[in-house]
Amino acid sequence: MKSNTTLWTTALATATLLFGLSFAPAEENREVDPNSIYARLGGQEAIDAAVDLFYEKMLADERVAFFFEDVNMKAQTRKQKEFLSAAFGGPKPWTGEDMRTAHKNLDLKEKDFQAVAENLQSTLEELKVDESLIQEIMGLVGSLKDEVLNRKSPAKTEKTN
Ligand code: HEM
Repeated sequence: MKSNTTLWTTALATATLLFGLSFAPAEENREVDPNSIYARLGGQEAIDAAVDLFYEKMLADERVAFFFEDVNMKAQTRKQKEFLSAAFGGPKPWTGEDMRTAHKNLDLKEKDFQAVAENLQSTLEELKVDESLIQEIMGLVGSLKDEVLNRKSPAKTEKTN
């Protein structure tokens, strides 16, 4: 039979764990503004569906598929869902790498970014997202370009075709 001390230690550890679990998520989650892109797009479910379709398109696009040859796509898809949810005003903050660090070894160029933007836009169009919301999202994603391409901002040669 266990000693009293062991029993007390176990009980205390369990209580601490339960206390921690019940409070941790409340601290991490932000309130979602009903006006946020996150809310207007349709919340987590809509973002999940969009990111799934987006990576289907990315992997079928020979301009960019090779970037993901050695990437764990399950993890990548999950991270992108988390990142975009946070960027769109969702409840959970992004805890992964910042966009400059995440892409700095990929030597990405303007045309790579363009291809990604095209795939995102056609994803949102296919999912029948409102045109004005698509424009808003593309603007937000576009604002990350200098970081993703590891350029100084603002770029001096901001030019698309
Ligand atoms: C605004 C545009 C973009 C966003 C929001 C974005 C978002 C992300 C995120 C959230 C990650 C995961 C970071 C982490 O591990 O914590 C990531 C990684 C990655 N991104 Fe992007 N990305 C963008 C543009 C691009 C472009 C243009 C390409 C290439 C065509 C690209 C290719 C990759 C690859 C290959 C990884 C995996 C790196 C690795 O695991 O080694 N991304 N991106």
